[in-house]
Amino acid sequence: MPPLKILICGGGLAGNALAFWLTQQNHSVTVLERFPSLRLNGLQIDLRGHGVEAMKRMGLSAAFAAHAVPEQGLAFVNSAGKRKAWFPANTSGKGTQGFTTEHEIMRGDFCRVMVDAVGDRVKYVFGKTVRSFEQEERGVRVQYSDGGSGEFDIFVGADGQWSHTRAMMLGPGIPDPVTFLGLYIAYFTVPLQQGQGEEMKGEAYIATGKRVMFTRRHRADTIQVYLMSPILSGGMEGVKKGDVEGEKRAFKRDFSGAGWKADQLMKWMEASEDFYCERLSTVDCASWCDGRVVLLGDAGYCPSAATGMGTTSAIVGAYVLAGEIGKYCSGAGGSKEAVPAALKAYDERFRPFMDQVKEGINPETGYWTKIPTSQWGIAVLNFLLGLAAFLRLDAFAKLVSHEDVKGWSLPEYEGMDMRS
Ligand SMILES: Cc1cc2nc3c(=O)[nH]c(=O)nc-3n(C[C@H](O)[C@H](O)[C@H](O)COP(=O)(O)OP(=O)(O)OC[C@H]3O[C@@H](n4cnc5c(N)ncnc54)[C@H](O)[C@@H]3O)c2cc1C
Ligand SMILES: *[C@@H]1O[C@H](CO)[C@@H](O)[C@H](O)[C@H]1NC(C)=O
Ligand SMILES: *[C@@H]1O[C@H](CO)[C@@H](O)[C@H](O)[C@H]1NC(C)=O
Repeated sequence: MPPLKILICGGGLAGNALAFWLTQQNHSVTVLERFPSLRLNGLQIDLRGHGVEAMKRMGLSAAFAAHAVPEQGLAFVNSAGKRKAWFPANTSGKGTQGFTTEHEIMRGDFCRVMVDAVGDRVKYVFGKTVRSFEQEERGVRVQYSDGGSGEFDIFVGADGQWSHTRAMMLGPGIPDPVTFLGLYIAYFTVPLQQGQGEEMKGEAYIATGKRVMFTRRHRADTIQVYLMSPILSGGMEGVKKGDVEGEKRAFKRDFSGAGWKADQLMKWMEASEDFYCERLSTVDCASWCDGRVVLLGDAGYCPSAATGMGTTSAIVGAYVLAGEIGKYCSGAGGSKEAVPAALKAYDERFRPFMDQVKEGINPETGYWTKIPTSQWGIAVLNFLLGLAAFLRLDAFAKLVSHEDVKGWSLPEYEGMDMRS
């Protein structure tokens, strides 16, 4: 069976994980990334449960561990910066680490680890995307944004939450299946030297008006800043996605004078070059494939950061998709004709996993709806539980966990365990 020609649109975590497995199967893989280079920004992410196992099967344990973030704990502070609660990480090295998992890593580092593992077996094309496609008898023909065209056996949309591939696959007139959950999150980093005796810690402050500020140190010379603002503040209304200056202005309007380090954080935000604003949303597609076109990662089934499972879902999905392609289309018994059946099998196998991960995530039940406005008590507890899931703090997260997907185990596929 000759290798398949596969086009992956989107060079994020999902796209690269899939490229990794497909080149193991000796297919001919092209990754198309709209940006002029790999997008290595993004803050701290983690792998959980089946995601850890999938990463291990890629043979990447050592490379991953070399970049893991060593976090010591999390503090909640009041408007004067006084510590109200401190949750240390368990550094015993045994069992779970307590409040942060041992599989925390910066998004860009994980992306780089996978790209390095793929090496030169994948053709990367930057600054280009797919404008349209047509399914043909034995393949799919794509038109590129630069006017060129190409023919492939499989076209994969791994182009993130706002996937154009998804829109093209669904066709004109079909509403995009994105549900906005009512929370905006800003992410950026700040060059800031660690002080004498200062821990590698996170610090969270909840201001009135359901505004949350969070800083987190992952390196001796850099911290991460997270700002969360619910829809009710109105600041983001009318600001277009990707209008970074507009997004920064909206956050500034919302957070100036909010207490704690708000004003300092605003100055840093204005100067930041890696600012990224997420409109917390889920993506729910009734089908992840159509013929030879298939959706992977946030493009198909974004569970939102509220589950803490976005990266795990991307990595596990890539493993299953590659596994089914291997089973149906690679090796002696495989055939190109089996591509649509392979893509359907991926949808069937992986969907029960995503259904569990996304269970109960909707605009009414999110933890941000429970952010206390003035009164502390039960509301605070509820909020903290949810926030802990977002921040992936083990001890709390277990109580509201989306990680523990039951009755589903990572399928075994021939040749897909690279542990040495
Ligand atoms: C810049 C950035 C920063 C992020 N920061 C965080 C974070 O701090 N915390 C967190 O939990 N999650 C973050 N995420 C989201 C997180 O990476 C995903 O939820 C998860 O890893 C699933 O990955 P994905 O590959 O499906 O999507 P993504 O990681 O979003 O990757 C999609 C890729 O496709 C590319 N792309 C988009 N449109 C097109 C197109 N039309 N043609 C070609 N390529 C296209 C994008 O540039 C990107 O490289 C970030 C995503 C991005 C893109
Ligand atoms: C891929 O090619 C290599 C080198 O030719 C070969 O050793 C390996 O068995 C092939 N893998 C598969 C899954 O066909
Ligand atoms: C840390 O974890 C280990 C192993 O699970 C446990 O025995 C120990 O009591 C924990 N320490 C703290 C301070 O929680």
